[in-house]
Amino acid sequence: MRLSVIGCGYVGLVTGACLAEAGHDVICADIDASRIAQLKAGQTPIYEQHLDKILVSAGKAGKISYTADAGEAIRFGDAIFICVGTPPRPDGSADLSAIDHVAQQIAAEARSPKLVVEKSTVPARTGIELQRALSGYSRGNGGFRVASNPEFLREGTAVEDFFHPDRIVVGVEDPTAAEQLREIYRPILEHQFTCPVHNGKCPDTHKAEFLVTTISSAELIKHASNSFLALKISYANAVADLCEKLGANVEEVTHAMGLDPRIGTQFLKAGLGFGGFCFPKDIQAFISLAATVGVDFEILKAAERVNKQRIDRFFDKVSKALWVVKGKRVAILGLAFKANTDDIRFAPALEVMKRLLEEGADVHACDPKALEKAKRQFPHAHYHDDPYKALEGAHAAVICTEWDVYKKIDWDRAGKLMARKLVVDGRNLYQPEKMKALGFEYSSFGRE
Ligand code: UDX
Repeated sequence: MRLSVIGCGYVGLVTGACLAEAGHDVICADIDASRIAQLKAGQTPIYEQHLDKILVSAGKAGKISYTADAGEAIRFGDAIFICVGTPPRPDGSADLSAIDHVAQQIAAEARSPKLVVEKSTVPARTGIELQRALSGYSRGNGGFRVASNPEFLREGTAVEDFFHPDRIVVGVEDPTAAEQLREIYRPILEHQFTCPVHNGKCPDTHKAEFLVTTISSAELIKHASNSFLALKISYANAVADLCEKLGANVEEVTHAMGLDPRIGTQFLKAGLGFGGFCFPKDIQAFISLAATVGVDFEILKAAERVNKQRIDRFFDKVSKALWVVKGKRVAILGLAFKANTDDIRFAPALEVMKRLLEEGADVHACDPKALEKAKRQFPHAHYHDDPYKALEGAHAAVICTEWDVYKKIDWDRAGKLMARKLVVDGRNLYQPEKMKALGFEYSSFGRE
């Protein structure tokens, strides 16, 4: 099928690339002409595992193309996936102006009926408004049908998540739109693709459910799912605080909790809390959406508060351990908001770095992928590709991102390089007894 993707950020580029790799003819558009130039030059503007590989193969197969001219893209596709940003406004509600802008472009540029698919994360009822706007901007003769198709991709595993979804949710007002979307996803649903992640030998071939509902329900499913995952993390972090007070071990507590399939082991990892461009803004948008209809989403406000407290708690641990922070050399291991991404948006690590710099610490940071982006935000810190360089002469090491490479640090060697054998672990990567046996002063979350 001929598909258009408007917005080449994480969601748009992964969606466009994977749909092209699955056999559709895809054109990707973005207002950022330099990003389009990069893509046309065969460069991948974001770090996402396997993405560069499928952009190359889909490009070679002539299945994907790029344009900075939205009109060209709009006229090309039978279905148009809107994947533009919906950043938070100061009051926490989602800024939908980019979606509205695309709606005006579609009404002006389309020359044939279009299925307009919302893929950006939006508050419930956005699709209804979009449908109304399209008909208004096209003076009622547009032939546009709107559908919602929220994505559940995680950064770092987005390509795998696209080809191996737990579910594909479509929200429609008419069944023909649902049928068109089922056709678009048929290769994924029926495993008719060569998986770029598992080179065709996919371990798990469970059949994803293709779930058809209304537009508003589909939109709400996204916010409700993300907010619940964030809530689960904050619950684990609140339990961690209790464990510290009661002398229990949060890792053992959450492990035992997770063995109950009604709870599940995932997203119960206590630590520095959640960051990234999804959870923080989706919780805010959901709280603000609820407020517009008179619902006080207290439980999510609490989850947000617990999450924000993580930085304070962590900084208390670091300053207590160091006694005086000013003038101390502190190594920060990990800057990205989580492992396997170069994304530092709303990264807890950057909050920690900001506080350390404000306190006059001599910060030496490292991260396998996010250094360049962090340097632009915090030019005053020192940056190292090699964690052992960052640890050299350090009075303390603070662990902020759960990269595998940091799980394998040789602390015997690191201890000899450091000025003081002191580790404050914000991601509970190490065993307290092992670190203490190596002569380290060691603290983490929910374990003492
Ligand atoms: C999330 C959702 O998982 C995904 O379905 C949605 O489409 C977009 O938002 P992402 O933001 O990429 O994806 O990150 P995710 O892997 O969910 O992690 C979010 C944050 O929670 C990270 O900062 C991570 O470090 C933190 N986290 C995750 C925890 O602190 N504890 C956990 O147990 C799991």
